[in-house]
Amino acid sequence: MEITIANKSHAGYAQYICDTIAESAKVRGTGIAKRTPEYVITKMENGNAVIALDGDKFAGFCYIEAWGHGKFVANSGLIVHPDYRGSGLARQIKEAIFKHSRTKYPDAKVFGITTGLAVMKINSELGYKPVTFSELTDDPTFWKGCQTCRNYDILQRTEQKMCLCTGMLYDPAKEEKKKAENPEELKKKDKKLNPKAFTRLKSIKEHLFLRKEKKEHH
Ligand SMILES: CC(C)(COP(=O)(O)OP(=O)(O)OC[C@H]1O[C@@H](n2cnc3c(N)ncnc32)[C@H](O)[C@@H]1OP(=O)(O)O)[C@@H](O)C(=O)NCCC(=O)NCCS
Repeated sequence: MEITIANKSHAGYAQYICDTIAESAKVRGTGIAKRTPEYVITKMENGNAVIALDGDKFAGFCYIEAWGHGKFVANSGLIVHPDYRGSGLARQIKEAIFKHSRTKYPDAKVFGITTGLAVMKINSELGYKPVTFSELTDDPTFWKGCQTCRNYDILQRTEQKMCLCTGMLYDPAKEEKKKAENPEELKKKDKKLNPKAFTRLKSIKEHLFLRKEKKEHH
């Protein structure tokens, strides 16, 4: 398996990547921001994506987006092809894109919003902390991406304060300070997410936010 920074030679995978993301969201019955192949190709051309290939077979992908004039970056669109799940590939891709983001945008806060336990686990290990949406970028273009998610009505009803997704943030200034003060604290065990608490929170949110007709349909 080769995990590399994507470039324009990978453009031929863009459509397949978008189809895999859309198909997986359908199977999960979850909300997702839609991506176009053109957008994915731009990410590849700008060196803002990581692709995992097994020979020439597509295995996984993730890309960087910069918001708020580069004050924030997000690692979005993580996808591992169903044939390659369950063996730590998402973790490897996320680590690669995180490292790349930190090199390319060293002062930016790195954030993500997700409903997925796998992503929450991986982000926690990388040093992200769960935060309220108010701590994330207020760049309207970022939040516009949510318009294509089927839960967008929730985000609107709450005036962008909360949604089914959980916001997670890596603040480089805070993490560097912590590392300097207490290197022990950065050990992996301290970064473990409590999956039970997260699953409970998710079910509470679904109960509160999902309208009855939505729940009956899905
Ligand atoms: C979510 C996804 C990226 C995980 O890929 P993967 O390569 O199978 O993940 P990994 O093997 O690296 O797993 C990382 C951790 O997450 C856990 N995990 C993986 N999939 C999970 C799932 N569906 N539910 C709960 N935990 C999961 C793994 O057990 C592992 O934790 P552990 O080491 O403590 O056991 C992949 O299933 C996928 O592409 N899904 C569809 C798209 C998606 O959900 N993207 C995220 C959008 S927010």
